[in-house]
Amino acid sequence: MKVKAWKTAMSLALKKTPRTVSEFEKLPEHVAIIMDGNGRWAKKHHLNVSKGHRQGTETLREIIRHTDDLGIKVLSLYAFSTENWNRSEEEVSALMQLMLDFFASEIDELDAKNVRILILGDKGRLPEKQRETLKEAEKRTESNTGLRLNIAINYGSRAEMVKAVREISVLVKNGAVRAEDIDEQMISDHLYTAGQPDVDLLIRTSGEQRLSNFLLYQNAYAEFVFPEILWPDFSVHDYDLALDAYGHRDRRYGGRKG
Ligand code: FPP
Repeated sequence: MKVKAWKTAMSLALKKTPRTVSEFEKLPEHVAIIMDGNGRWAKKHHLNVSKGHRQGTETLREIIRHTDDLGIKVLSLYAFSTENWNRSEEEVSALMQLMLDFFASEIDELDAKNVRILILGDKGRLPEKQRETLKEAEKRTESNTGLRLNIAINYGSRAEMVKAVREISVLVKNGAVRAEDIDEQMISDHLYTAGQPDVDLLIRTSGEQRLSNFLLYQNAYAEFVFPEILWPDFSVHDYDLALDAYGHRDRRYGGRKG
């Protein structure tokens, strides 16, 4: 690396203020985040797990703002998986309450910023209040054209694929589609993320290195970054470092360069 380029790289690594678009080599179009580590953060601070999730929601606000500032097209967040119902009643109800609080406090700003909200997952199993709040947020922002904010709630990727297969099967049965015409695009078109680009960068915080049933189809060619930072401690600076790491990856999609 030339001295000047090295100096620039060093000064960026040391700079803790949020970066601007021009400070990145290349930015992803679609970032997906598994916000992991709220429970460990709470334990570390001798707090109840719900305080960890509450602190995690603060991180979420900052990350959404910065994603929007950078002009990234899509941000997908894993907020509640189909397996999360197995947690204690107290923790599940704290998460359900956080969802209501989050939308009550953020929806005006998100809408004003032209953010389009989409819930990935089956809203059917959620309590009525949460279901209505989520539907309202989707409806209110459906014609917005800025950042696409996907929030996965009661989401599981395998269940999403089963849903897609069932929908396509009905089309085949009705004669609207021939089995031999089913292709990768058609499957994409029947996922919650229909019409959106695939995930370019997947971030999972806390040091765990698993997909945990999150956007399996959409992550086929994603780059993965696993910062060893608990989600409530994950700062905009840490996010910038993950985005920067993405910018230096060599994506070949199974091909060969040169
Ligand atoms: C994983 O940490 C995190 C979750 C299961 C929930 C994430 C949800 C939020 C950050 C906020 C709520 C969502 C909205 C839309 C406001 P963990 O509890 O599994 O952490 P651990 O592995 O350390 O126990």
